[in-house]
Amino acid sequence: MDTAPVLSTIAVLGGTGKEGKGLAYRWAKAGYRILIGSRNPEKARAAALEVLGLLGDKVFVEGTTNTRAAELAEIVVLAVPYAAHRETLESVSEALQGKLLVDVTVPLVPPKVTKVQMPPAGSAAQEAHAILGQNVQVTSAFQNISHELLFHPEPIECDVLVTGTSKEARQETLKLVVAAGLTGWDAGPIENSVVIEGLTSVLININRESGSTNAGIKITGTHSGSTHYIAL
Ligand SMILES: NC(=O)c1ccc[n+]([C@@H]2O[C@H](COP(=O)([O-])OP(=O)(O)OC[C@H]3O[C@@H](n4cnc5c(N)ncnc54)[C@H](OP(=O)(O)O)[C@@H]3O)[C@@H](O)[C@H]2O)c1
Repeated sequence: MDTAPVLSTIAVLGGTGKEGKGLAYRWAKAGYRILIGSRNPEKARAAALEVLGLLGDKVFVEGTTNTRAAELAEIVVLAVPYAAHRETLESVSEALQGKLLVDVTVPLVPPKVTKVQMPPAGSAAQEAHAILGQNVQVTSAFQNISHELLFHPEPIECDVLVTGTSKEARQETLKLVVAAGLTGWDAGPIENSVVIEGLTSVLININRESGSTNAGIKITGTHSGSTHYIAL
């Protein structure tokens, strides 16, 4: 008899927000156990109910504090505005030791969000690694996917570039890309995240110029993607 694979528990810190909730929805749909994290557990529970309202009670989605979500999960995803990046990471640093952090943060500096403005560490993902230390693997992904594409079941045409502190961490993150219904590419070491985070400002500029809201990227000229969508 076939048994369903036991998938990891993913904490989505800032999962009450636009991008995090969309990712939580897609991973819950793929069978992962999802903990939506927030500064306010009531707000997290409301976001979890919203996702459950779309997917039904066969999926696992719970809301709790960022800290508790980080403690209980194997993989932790960070989806907060850059202004809250350091503070949120410092608050969960202990819980993250020995785990994988997938950083979705783009270091936008409002109001000039169409201009690339990287932090001194080089990128938000490198800054996360410096804050968390060598015992935490950090990958960077999903910065070029608009939240508007995530929070519904339609297929998404855009690709996801994944950088990270080790090949293993990138492979683990590419599995999450596939589970979210996207094609992912191993884009190399964490130092390359500057390009991908910076690309978001370019896409925002393209959106403004073209009157669209969800411009994305697609890799062409290759024989096959690093990952392919498979329904779990
Ligand atoms: N929106 C997109 O389409 C998109 C696309 C790609 C990448 N991103 C990146 O993903 C990240 C999240 O974007 P988003 O649009 O989802 O943001 P958001 O909806 O504005 O915020 C996400 C969550 O972050 C927490 N937060 C907000 N301000 C905070 C603060 N000052 N201190 C601590 N926590 C705070 C809130 O959670 P609680 O109040 O529940 O704690 C909020 O629900 C950003 O770095 C963004 O650049 C976004």
